[in-house]
Amino acid sequence: MALYSEKVMDHFRNPRNVGVIEDADGIGEVGNAKCGDIMKMYLKIEDDVIRDVKFETFGCGSAIASSSMATELIKGQPVSEAMKLTNKAVAEALDGLPDYKMHCSVLAEEAIQSALDDYRKKKES
Ligand code: FES
Repeated sequence: MALYSEKVMDHFRNPRNVGVIEDADGIGEVGNAKCGDIMKMYLKIEDDVIRDVKFETFGCGSAIASSSMATELIKGQPVSEAMKLTNKAVAEALDGLPDYKMHCSVLAEEAIQSALDDYRKKKES
């Protein structure tokens, strides 16, 4: 069996939603101290719905595929749904990741949660 699913390879080779949103409503940046990979998420939110999402990932192929898939999963979703996104859901949508690469999907979950936190803080202030 191939180590990586076709979906992982597809999202790694052709990542969706790469880039920056200049006037983002929420930005989240997280990193993994062990591997040194960094992920940054930008959210554009209107009426509590995620209208646009972009990411920049400086990391391994699984981290890039996870960020790409995570953005696809939350785009067009209400904030309340995006808050429920787990790394498991990201990995499942990619048809699985090897066990030792699961932490890469955790980075995607954390980056989105951090961007949503930033959005909430900005909204409250
Ligand atoms: Fe660090 Fe994949 S090896 S995020």
